[in-house]
Amino acid sequence: MLRIAVLASGSGSNAESIYRYFEHSELAQVEMIVTNNTKAGVIQRFLDKKAVLRTFNYPEESGAVLKELIAGADIVVLAGFLKMVPPSWTRAFNGRMLNIHPAILPKFGGKGMYGKHVHKAVSESAESETGITIHLVNEQYDKGAIISQFFVDIEPGESPELIEKKVRALEQQYYAPTIERWIENLILSQ
Ligand code: GRF
Repeated sequence: MLRIAVLASGSGSNAESIYRYFEHSELAQVEMIVTNNTKAGVIQRFLDKKAVLRTFNYPEESGAVLKELIAGADIVVLAGFLKMVPPSWTRAFNGRMLNIHPAILPKFGGKGMYGKHVHKAVSESAESETGITIHLVNEQYDKGAIISQFFVDIEPGESPELIEKKVRALEQQYYAPTIERWIENLILSQ
């Protein structure tokens, strides 16, 4: 049974859907939820769940948390983690750390491109589609190998709010099954 740690800084809708997806799985379980934000909505979502909830001061406690991740997790899934992942973390989990970006990388990615900033940029662009990108995490923001992308059409001038709604629906539908398929490949490749 592989142990998943989820890193989140926000409302935690992805963290919760991943937890529920694997709740009765023989393959993997979400064992840890790690957040740098003591006010994050993700905390409320996990008060009544089995996963260990760890809030920490970034970057002061990054070393201690890395030790806990190494001891307690086989793979690390980022789900709205808004801080730069410490290089010591990406090295320790090289090839075993995933992230989801709410747009079609390499467009609309990089520093500062998160949450509403992404949807606003897409809304103001001439794009006729947007979507999500699930990728490996390396030391450069949003530059890890792309694992999967899922697309949704958008109309010219569509609002950032409506784009966000469509993108979040893709996340809920595809992030967890993509993690599952990636874990199966990881096990097969060992
Ligand atoms: C999601 O839109 C995800 O794509 C991005 O951050 C947001 C996290 O939302 N990385 P939530 O905290 O999972 O609700």
